[in-house]
Amino acid sequence: MASNPHFESYKKDVIKMNNAKRRTVIAGNWKMNFTPAEAVAFINEIKPMVEGKNNCDIIFCAPYVDIAPAMEAAKGSNIKIGAENVHFEEKGAYTGEVSAKMLTSMGVEYVIIGHSERRQYFAETDETVNKRTKAALAAGMKVILCLGEVKDERLNGITNEVVSMQTKLDLKDVTAEELKNVIIAYEPVWAIGTGLTATPEQADETCGVIRDTVASLYGRDAAEAMTIQYGGSMNDANAKELLDKVNVDGGLIGGASLVAAKFTAIVDAAQ
Ligand code: 13P
Repeated sequence: MASNPHFESYKKDVIKMNNAKRRTVIAGNWKMNFTPAEAVAFINEIKPMVEGKNNCDIIFCAPYVDIAPAMEAAKGSNIKIGAENVHFEEKGAYTGEVSAKMLTSMGVEYVIIGHSERRQYFAETDETVNKRTKAALAAGMKVILCLGEVKDERLNGITNEVVSMQTKLDLKDVTAEELKNVIIAYEPVWAIGTGLTATPEQADETCGVIRDTVASLYGRDAAEAMTIQYGGSMNDANAKELLDKVNVDGGLIGGASLVAAKFTAIVDAAQ
């Protein structure tokens, strides 16, 4: 279908207005991949490639053991290093867990919470996701809260209900002030690591449903100010059309965040 030039120009204006209201955030989720030495080599490689590209925030969320060396390598650059999870208790007998205070004491600002792999393989529920979110926010961290429907839910036409419910449960008792430190990453589970991507229209629509749910809880202004990312097989080839959508304010990137050229191309698509 030929695009209408008036509509295209209107769309650009809306995107411009929204960008003024909310920050575009391109974040990598390294998952369980790089050793500390590999993380450092990656940061050293990508640092000059993204230098001066300041129209979006650039974050890599790393396994705990990679955080300190990656932060050291990223010093003085426009790259921030975050964590992939955090526990909700302040301290105590929780073998294998890491607290928000441990992260903030190292200067870590961002943390992913509620990733579908945590929900699927490590028994995370909306209740524990909510507890982790509240603990991280209380410690002054910025949270990248992940949610999204599984394939059966999309096929059965209940995606909107699912993401709306997750949004409400995961943000339960989060204050309006704390909400300013929340980014939501909409990640359809069927699109993660599968090479299947939501169409730009699906991503836009579902991010819009999440935004409307946030508006119902905190008001329209708060919802319009919130960064909502898309995640799920975002790559150098499809990033531009996803990021062009009005309700998509960034990306949470898995596989392509391990390849400097691919991740840089996504950052470029967001400029
Ligand atoms: P992929 O980009 O590998 O599909 O992973 C997405 C993701 O899970 C980001 O958190």
